[in-house]
Amino acid sequence: MFSLKAALPLALLAAGSAFAQSTQLTLPAPGSTLTAGSEVTVQVGMGGYPENIDVVSIVIGLMPCYGGQCYGPNEFLGSILYQGPYNPVSGNYFENYTVTVPEGFPAGEATLGVINFFMVGASYEPVFDFLNETVYVTSA
Ligand SMILES: *[C@@H]1O[C@H](CO)[C@@H](O)[C@H](O)[C@H]1NC(C)=O
Ligand SMILES: *[C@@H]1O[C@H](CO)[C@@H](O)[C@H](O)[C@H]1NC(C)=O
Repeated sequence: MFSLKAALPLALLAAGSAFAQSTQLTLPAPGSTLTAGSEVTVQVGMGGYPENIDVVSIVIGLMPCYGGQCYGPNEFLGSILYQGPYNPVSGNYFENYTVTVPEGFPAGEATLGVINFFMVGASYEPVFDFLNETVYVTSA
């Protein structure tokens, strides 16, 4: 079968794969305690890129764990805390999103999940990054 990828220049493929896991969830630290009804800063970084990056959308979700079972953002996002563009301050390789943990969010362990859909390079290779970490939620 004809493969489009095989026909693409090697350099382009190499560049694409190097960026496959490029998004970082830097804040809050894993294991942080969040308070229902309160604001928290979620910092999402993307490194410095030598080539064209076009971020389509960032989604930040908070999903409670049930009975010790947690779910990553590839399965459930839970409460959507943010969805929209990525606009780092010029010279910064991250954006701070100030989001609010919903009032009445179940106390206990939860997964903070981030999805970043972006396109890389002159040929707009689509990339989805899924990031997650465990946090703890307390009621106010
Ligand atoms: C979250 O990410 C880690 C790797 O960073 C992974 O081991 C874990 O299974 C993921 N899923 C959840 C629900 O936390
Ligand atoms: C991003 O948030 C962190 C933590 O609240 C803060 O220390 C930092 O100064 C913020 N940076 C910018 C550019 O807003």
